[in-house]
Amino acid sequence: MNGFTFMKFTLLKKDRDCAARLGLLETGHGQIQTPIFMPVATHGAMKPLTPAQIQETGAQIILSNTYHLHLQPGEGLVKKAGGLHRFMAWDKPILTDSGGFQVFSLPKKRITDDGVFFRHENTGEEIYLDPARAIAIQQELGSDIMMAFDECIPYPCEKAYAEQSTRKTIRWLKECKKAWSSSNQALFGIVQGSVFEELRVMCAREMTKLDLPGYAIGGVSVGEGLELLKKVVGWTAPHLPEDKPRYLMGVGLPEDILESVERGMDMFDCVIPTRYARSATLFTRRGRIRVSNKNYRRDFYPVDPSCGCYTCRNFSRAYLHHLFAANEVLSAVLSAIHNVQFYLTMMAEVRQAIADNRFMAFKQAFLADYLGSAP
Ligand code: GUN
Ligand code: ZN
Repeated sequence: MNGFTFMKFTLLKKDRDCAARLGLLETGHGQIQTPIFMPVATHGAMKPLTPAQIQETGAQIILSNTYHLHLQPGEGLVKKAGGLHRFMAWDKPILTDSGGFQVFSLPKKRITDDGVFFRHENTGEEIYLDPARAIAIQQELGSDIMMAFDECIPYPCEKAYAEQSTRKTIRWLKECKKAWSSSNQALFGIVQGSVFEELRVMCAREMTKLDLPGYAIGGVSVGEGLELLKKVVGWTAPHLPEDKPRYLMGVGLPEDILESVERGMDMFDCVIPTRYARSATLFTRRGRIRVSNKNYRRDFYPVDPSCGCYTCRNFSRAYLHHLFAANEVLSAVLSAIHNVQFYLTMMAEVRQAIADNRFMAFKQAFLADYLGSAP
């Protein structure tokens, strides 16, 4: 599609000392200040929060998944319900991933030049996804940002396979663009290329020619580690258009996000804050704590005394310890509220630091406290 799109990105400012950027992304469902973290609501629900609770953490946009919603309940039903926003009662922006990542991580699948065959997890029914179908599904769901259907290359990988796969992902992006017909939904391309500089640069250049509303870097957080992640982002980001949002998919830990903001990335998503919350792992400015540990049984401090979330304003570590010990559902709720708000507060501080041209000092101070020693 080449027509009008509702989405608009304004690059407000660049930090004086690094590639960190401050931006404003405007969608049909509201504005997003970047750099931003997008909490993950895979099935159209953020384990285990209500939309009101998600909103209270300060979330500006959430991520849902084409693959999961296609299997259950199906995009036709979501459309009948009035679209994903109405169905899940979330009226702020939603980004949907294309299914590229989930399908390719399935143990049994058949990849062809045109798409992927796989089996329904529950019914065993054969399902086929390709670029046109992935876009059609996302258009029925009605997300604000749709991701292109790509192949997320496993790590490690031979360069020959990576090259062939990356060329296929570029070809698929052209198919996605052809299938894109909704003027109030933006399409983002996903740069692949594994850990090969030449392939990343080639892919970024080819995709940029398509003049899409935004671009992502995919195929990271697949076990390559922080040093390679920094390299991949450092090679790729400079070849993406400056006036379009840049999304780093599936990243990550606070340190991964800060290193990538420094290199010019604007959007992030990860299941870590909500997943860790369910196993009693909570983020604090002085690192992570495992609140189920017996050390916290009589600890009457909040999870993080510097945090303003609902959990920290009202409850102690001792109470959370008790909830986990008693297997109460509330343990996961209170922990998720805190972890999600921890990430969003960090991003708000990132934005303020960029506005003040002190991102590098902010990163250093944050990591010194968080990792417990000067980086
Ligand atoms: N989520 C995390 N990494 C990826 C990726 O490479 N592609 C897609 N579609 N989703 C992702
Ligand atoms: Zn908190």
